Amino acid sequence: NKKGFIFDLDGVIVDTAKYHYLSWKSLANELGFDITLEQNEQLKGVSRVRSLEIILGWGNKTLTEEAFAKYMAEKNDNYLSHIAQMDAGEILPDIPKTLNYLQETQQGIALGSASKNARKILQKVNLYETFQAIVDGNDVSKAKPDPEVFLIAAQQLNTVPTDCIVFEDSVAGVTAANAAGMISIGIGSDETLGHADYVFNDFTEIQTRFIEELINR
Ligand code: BG6
Ligand code: MG
Repeated sequence: NKKGFIFDLDGVIVDTAKYHYLSWKSLANELGFDITLEQNEQLKGVSRVRSLEIILGWGNKTLTEEAFAKYMAEKNDNYLSHIAQMDAGEILPDIPKTLNYLQETQQGIALGSASKNARKILQKVNLYETFQAIVDGNDVSKAKPDPEVFLIAAQQLNTVPTDCIVFEDSVAGVTAANAAGMISIGIGSDETLGHADYVFNDFTEIQTRFIEELINR
């Protein structure tokens, strides 16, 4: 019984959500305002372009096309300076255990991320070879909450969407997984991710037996 297990990257496999936040925060500060952790929830899973649009809305700022491009590049440079320090030690608890189990049981394993830096990060933490399919921000035309990223991942795993399970920490990502007709597993708080089929705080709360049940259903 082969299922497709699709993992979001930022905030699920590694805690890069904190680096995205730091980079956006310093950019907002530069523009004369601040963003809160609560506002940051709305940026998770959201593309780089869309994130900057949302942030500018919060600060009541408009930018010329040129300045917009400049700030986008600046944010990414800042973010990449954090990424440069990463190694396998940043893989979140029990992720390796889960991935090993899925490999042992010969499940499909894919990455479904909005990030254009996903491949680079997987290489940094030594997980690049673990994924049979990698679909990221370079491969899609419609960002989450559109289901495109997960539908392409299912296709690349040679599975149908109804045989896929998605792990997501973002509101937009859970919405995308649901729209794809997949089982959605929220990683985070019940308050934020109540629209997921299941919610766990992190992978340490996910028992092997639960994964086994997903495989056999
Ligand atoms: C998502 C993150 O995975 O990727 C977002 O949750 C981020 O915060 C988006 O904006 C795009 O990432 P990047 O690395 O291409 O700027
Ligand atoms: Mg995420």
